[in-house]
Amino acid sequence: MLNLLEELEQRAAQELEGVNQVKELESWRVRYLGKKSQLTKLLRSLATLPLEQRKAVGAFANQVKAKLEDGLKQKGQVLRETQLVTTIKEKHIDITLPGRPFPVGRLHPITQTLHEICDIFVSMGFQVMEGPEVEWDYYNFEALNIPKHHPARDMMATLWVDVENESGERTMLLRTHNTSQDVRVMEKMSPPIRVVIPGKVYRYEASDATHTPVFYQIDGLAVDKGITMAELKGTLYEFARRFFGEDRKVRFRCDYFPFVEPGVEMAIECSVCGGAGCRLCGNTGWIEILGAGMTHPQVLRRVGLDPEVYTSFAFGMGIDRLPMLRYGIDDTRLFYGSDLRFLRQF
Ligand code: DAH
Repeated sequence: MLNLLEELEQRAAQELEGVNQVKELESWRVRYLGKKSQLTKLLRSLATLPLEQRKAVGAFANQVKAKLEDGLKQKGQVLRETQLVTTIKEKHIDITLPGRPFPVGRLHPITQTLHEICDIFVSMGFQVMEGPEVEWDYYNFEALNIPKHHPARDMMATLWVDVENESGERTMLLRTHNTSQDVRVMEKMSPPIRVVIPGKVYRYEASDATHTPVFYQIDGLAVDKGITMAELKGTLYEFARRFFGEDRKVRFRCDYFPFVEPGVEMAIECSVCGGAGCRLCGNTGWIEILGAGMTHPQVLRRVGLDPEVYTSFAFGMGIDRLPMLRYGIDDTRLFYGSDLRFLRQF
């Protein structure tokens, strides 16, 4: 009996040595110290032994049990410690490491330019307004002195929406310019009015390096008593100074737009050649950036304003040109191409 116990103790000790996982330790415990283990059975059967033998074997068996329990406790502790160390090693977070970068979106260069332009005009007392891109012929053309069959319609090849009036004439279109908002604004607000209108416009044109069928414009409108051409020029000079820099030269020349009288175009000195003449400016040294003028009396009358009392100036510019000039980009299609390698630069 004693031999059996000794043997059992040795075997248990040996096996315990080989245990290196918490799970294995548990099955070791069940095997040697569990209810159905040899040792437990033996301890239970002590009662059947004669007294002398029972004392000797009982004492020894309890010793063995105590040793095994001790071994179990120690091993348990060792295993738990090593496990903790590996967990810390595997899962620890080094808070001194820099964060993982993740891709962040950014504003499109055209949007950035629009924001910048709006900020400049807002600081001069203008408010920003937007309007519908699908527009009535009336606001885009008629109300701006461009009746049906007027030659000025040819300047803006129009994309029509399939909506006709009783006489079979198309009445709805994709706005060809933001000037279409001017009459809407004057119908809604009363003077003094100072607004800028940024947004998309559409023209039925093939794309090339300087044209796309969809592009952005910003229009401006000021209506009040006593507004003169001097206010128009002053406002646009100030804008050019702030957007292009203090010493960029600006030029005004006469131009014709049916909704203004007089009408002008404003050009700035070419940023690429500094006025000497190059491909971008068509060898003129100047780049036209906007059309402007004093709102036509007929347009004012149409919204119930007396042109003897109220005067108004208006301007409109395509804004794609501006980042092109600033960054020396020679193809406007790049802005609409969704090529992230290009767009990420801004
Ligand atoms: N709407 C014109 C265009 O798209 C630009 C323009 C010219 C706007 C003169 C104006 C203006 O307000 O007065 O070509």
